[in-house]
Amino acid sequence: MKDDNYLRAHNARHLWHPMGHPGAMQDTPPKIITGAAGVEITDIDGHSVVDAVGGLWCVNLGYSNDAIKTAIAGQLMDLPYYSAFAGTTNPAAIEASEMVTEFFAPDGMARVFFTSGGSDAVDTALRLARQYHKLRGEPGRTKFLSLKKGYHGTHFGGASVNGNNRFRIAYEPLLSGCFHIPSPYPYRNPFNETDPEKLAQLVAQAMEDEIAFQDPSTIAAFIMEPIQGAGGVIVPHETLMPMLREICTRHGILMIADEVICGFGRTGDWTGSRHWGVQPDMMTVAKGITSAYFPVGAALVNEAVADVFENADRSQGIWHGYTYSAHPVGAAAVVACMEETKRLDLRANATARGTQLYEGMLKLKERYDIVGDVRGGHGLMIGVEVVTDQDKKTAADPAMMGKIHAATYEAGTMVRVGGNNIMMSPPLTVTEADIGQVISCVEAGLAAV
Ligand SMILES: Cc1ncc(COP(=O)(O)O)c(C=O)c1O
Repeated sequence: MKDDNYLRAHNARHLWHPMGHPGAMQDTPPKIITGAAGVEITDIDGHSVVDAVGGLWCVNLGYSNDAIKTAIAGQLMDLPYYSAFAGTTNPAAIEASEMVTEFFAPDGMARVFFTSGGSDAVDTALRLARQYHKLRGEPGRTKFLSLKKGYHGTHFGGASVNGNNRFRIAYEPLLSGCFHIPSPYPYRNPFNETDPEKLAQLVAQAMEDEIAFQDPSTIAAFIMEPIQGAGGVIVPHETLMPMLREICTRHGILMIADEVICGFGRTGDWTGSRHWGVQPDMMTVAKGITSAYFPVGAALVNEAVADVFENADRSQGIWHGYTYSAHPVGAAAVVACMEETKRLDLRANATARGTQLYEGMLKLKERYDIVGDVRGGHGLMIGVEVVTDQDKKTAADPAMMGKIHAATYEAGTMVRVGGNNIMMSPPLTVTEADIGQVISCVEAGLAAV
């Protein structure tokens, strides 16, 4: 490893970072994170903080899970790679596929297709949804519906159903035939409706209206996050997802639950769909599937969808896949991570610590005028929306958000800033004391502006 002077001199000089301006990154180089243990990360200056971001909503088991590390190392020695394209497979992939489908069986899932991450999983699901209808003899079902404020990754398919224009505009034109329904976001919505239950009704009506306008026989699938994460932690009323499920079923539209963040315990249940009592037709997962120790994602389908593919004419295969689909090292990470996830059963901790963090943020809202909205209360995903005028809901600008972020970090906690939101999704292993630290550091951040 090169010395610190070398690292500082070359920081962001050759590497274009995701989700950032390359020139701005050169002006203000990113923090160099050199190590991590438990729920803490340490930077090149030796400053250690609680990682309230959980890497990027993904390090569910914290940074010190030796079972996953050992499984990855062992698999690298036995078989570092072999393709899973038709004709060959590997033992870890076979075991991981059985574990994953068993884990998601209560959600109705029956088969899994492994990918290299969440964006791949979303594109896989969208493609399989279209193919499903073609195989069934309804080739006209090609369109996709999704919610505004949803985040579904950055491939062309995922960006096309994405509900934040920041990830779309520079890359347009995107996939045609993608239509967006209002987000169940009580703080800001086109209906001026602050009651979450009434808003859920309005969103469902808007979806019915769009389906009628498009003609149901042209729509392949509807994709949604059970709780919208990257869009600012937008928690729908409990009636929303069941209502949308019913609408999809009535119109023959596949429901894809994007569980890339919600899956594996973050909501306090094993999946966001289960949290709302819904069985989707397809699911996408990533992040917590390996606690991010190795890049893996997956698209899952239920028995009815699987039936159509498995009984199709033998000329109609799945002509889709990635070099790293069912990668043996990734699959070994999945097996170890799922064993650990189940053994530690972190759902209860996600609920308890999530409630503690949510209540802590609600208390800060009482004391700080710049806190416009606090969202959470369903596991360990919390959003705090910062405004400069409570009545007008004027969004805090990037400079102000940057100051809050820096002061929170200095005080001892890493948070994520997206637009005018502070977002928190710590490892599901956090303790009461860790959350106490997060709350006091966020307060220091708010007090700094
Ligand atoms: C709900 C959701 N779907 C898809 C993705 C894309 O996953 P990845 O960044 O692994 O491609 C993300 C990433 O944050 C996500 O939150």
